[in-house]
Amino acid sequence: MSTLRSIVRGVGGYLPARIVTNEELSKTVDTSDEWIQQRVGIKQRHVAAEGEFTSDLAVHAARRALDNARLAQADIDLIIVATTTPDLTFPATAAIVQQKLGLHHGAAFDIQAVCSGFLYGLVTADSFLKSGMARRALVIGAETATRILDWTDRTTCVLFGDGAGAAVLELGGDGEHGILASSLRSDGHFADKLNTTGGPSTTQTIGHIHMEGKEVFRHAVGKITDVVENVLSATGYTVKDLDWFVPHQANLRIIQGAGEKLHIPPEKVIITVDRHANTSAASVPLALAEAVGDGRIKRGDLVMLEAMGGGFTWGASLIRW
Ligand code: ACO
Repeated sequence: MSTLRSIVRGVGGYLPARIVTNEELSKTVDTSDEWIQQRVGIKQRHVAAEGEFTSDLAVHAARRALDNARLAQADIDLIIVATTTPDLTFPATAAIVQQKLGLHHGAAFDIQAVCSGFLYGLVTADSFLKSGMARRALVIGAETATRILDWTDRTTCVLFGDGAGAAVLELGGDGEHGILASSLRSDGHFADKLNTTGGPSTTQTIGHIHMEGKEVFRHAVGKITDVVENVLSATGYTVKDLDWFVPHQANLRIIQGAGEKLHIPPEKVIITVDRHANTSAASVPLALAEAVGDGRIKRGDLVMLEAMGGGFTWGASLIRW
């Protein structure tokens, strides 16, 4: 009997129309294109328009993923939105997405694991599908991260952008394709290293992103490589078997550091951080959508996803595409 696995049937991404270059930012913030590119590899970021909300970005990405999967909205019975920038404190942005997609059936909820949110959503959906709780899932990472930035803090405001990415998952029985193994981790002892300065229960405000950049950098490469190695050893594959590495797009230097430590050739690493900046939970599905859309990731490829972010949270997932 072959193993049932969650197969990624389709992916889609959406970026708001407005692009803000480093050059433009440096007119209002004491920074430079050279500093930003040298430290984090970012050239530009997309910024949502006034009146354009996280749920709107999520719906665009979801529709593209459904088209890519050749499925209709009604085929979905589970919607998970990973976001740190929900439309409202409640209801869940996933419920708003469900409404905008015109659906009344199934379940919809948000996941909050900051930049690792898409990985957490993927693993949750995988568990729902395997346990029979749902038949087809939409997992969406969507953020309007620029709305929680302090635009006078040059150490954080140059790093983030807005966007959404989505994946459609379905259980498949060929035993070969789909999510092969995943690992999720967190350690709340690092909660104050990367957080917001407010929230509903503490300050009754949304707060701004606060980050101890050097501390985050110090932990990122080690935590990412650990979790990737755990997933590989759980499956018996090695780094050499990987066709593609799709990392969270926070910082080119972190991506390169992890790639070098794992001995992954740079040509197998998907990079979007230069054009998207850090879109938090949206970064991995956006990178996936780009690489599937331009034909780099093909059916049968072995693809490793990873992310790390506030909490700290981190995780990895190995998929036979
Ligand atoms: N433009 C110009 N100068 C700046 C800027 C800026 N945007 N930001 C900081 N500086 C200055 C600082 O004020 C400081 O000046 P000083 O020496 O006169 O005091 C100097 O640059 C060096 O500042 P550091 O904070 O020491 O800079 P560092 O080399 O640590 O780089 C950075 C900062 C890029 C954020 C780095 O710590 C880093 O890459 N951290 C990883 C964090 C990350 O990528 N987070 C993303 C979100 S988390 C995630 O998704 C995993």
